[in-house]
Amino acid sequence: MTRRIIIPAAALVAALALGACGKENVETSDIAPQYREGATLFVENCSGCHTLSSVGAEGSAIKINNRERVDGPNFDQRAETKQNVLYALHNGGFSGAIMPENILTGEDAQKVADFLAKYAGAEKPAPASPQG
Ligand code: HEC
Repeated sequence: MTRRIIIPAAALVAALALGACGKENVETSDIAPQYREGATLFVENCSGCHTLSSVGAEGSAIKINNRERVDGPNFDQRAETKQNVLYALHNGGFSGAIMPENILTGEDAQKVADFLAKYAGAEKPAPASPQG
């Protein structure tokens, strides 16, 4: 009997978590005009799983007790090169395990990569490329 209640509740939580993707507040007014399109694409496609406070995205785990498997790196803390963003977009993150592949391709991928290369990780240098 309790099982019947627990399963739909879990499904609802999952649905809400997915629904959060792309429905964050778009706050791109602080973004330089040439990066705004990339910022909007980031908010629409990435903010459910990644944090970046310059656009009000809070998708990464902030507290250990609300951590989820899909939580991606926090782009306030982690810098990215354009090449790494394009690699992650094409392959689904660096591991290919959680982040969907090819969420954005072509020009849209370029725009988000330019935006992140500029705005991600003010505090730390970009990590080495996974390609070596
Ligand atoms: C469903 C959740 C999800 C979505 C949506 C998502 N990501 Fe990710 N992303 C992850 C996870 C989890 C990782 C870390 C694991 C890995 O690298 O495979 C990751 C890793 C990355 C990395 C590698 C970061 C690093 O330094 O390790 C980049 C870059 C990245 N994502 C960019 C994006 C961009 C840009 C978008 C939107 C177009 C996006 N992600 C959408 C979950 C997501």
